[in-house]
Amino acid sequence: MDIDQLKEHLRFARELGVTGVSRDPAWRAVDTPRGAVPISAGVPVADTRVPVRDDAQPVTIALTPIESLAAVRTDIGDCTRCKLHTLGRTQIVFGVGNPNADLMFVGEAPGRDEDVQGFPFVGRAGQLLTKIIEAIALKREDVYIANVIKCRPPENRNPEPDEVASCEPFLFRQIDIIKPKVIVALGKFGAQTLLQTLDPISRLRGRVFDYRGAKLIPTFHPAYLLRNPASKREVWEDMKLVRSLLTS
Ligand code: URA
Repeated sequence: MDIDQLKEHLRFARELGVTGVSRDPAWRAVDTPRGAVPISAGVPVADTRVPVRDDAQPVTIALTPIESLAAVRTDIGDCTRCKLHTLGRTQIVFGVGNPNADLMFVGEAPGRDEDVQGFPFVGRAGQLLTKIIEAIALKREDVYIANVIKCRPPENRNPEPDEVASCEPFLFRQIDIIKPKVIVALGKFGAQTLLQTLDPISRLRGRVFDYRGAKLIPTFHPAYLLRNPASKREVWEDMKLVRSLLTS
């Protein structure tokens, strides 16, 4: 280990809350550090008496869901993988909510309000989604909300196949990290993308699918409900099913 690696090691240890190192080999065996030297004192002391094993296996560090989601967001970066970054998007709309949620909603793509604010479902359709969530006695903060596409398509046009192909792996990673019990696919686009089908939403809704370890329920998109309020009744049926799956 050279001096830069050692400094980095000590900096990371301090971030973890480690307050000192010791030359005493017995120190590792006890709960209370004896003779610890504060790192802040600038004494970079490595315990050279700890044998280094040649056969040491790589260490796998388990990340929390919040850390794993942050890693996905870092991987997306200031994404230029598809043409949407040249077509007027303001920012990437990653996802929002409880990283340990039992219930996840998947929409299509950010609209104008989401593009401005950086969060999914914050416009009129989003306000209706919030009411739908509250109708089953949950709060927005209890669930996780994401879209298939993370950048706003121009004029809210439908996402194109190459855009979906670039973006969907990040949604799949979000789902695999959160591991929800139930996923509600909002509208044709979310449902078709997740289920890899071209079946219309009218054929998909009313059914429960097994999907990546979750139960997937397709339902109508809130934006559709704003135009077709009569369909709220069917969405309410779907949400009652969601509720019963969450409590079963
Ligand atoms: N419609 C969507 O599909 N997603 C949003 O975030 C907003 C509107």
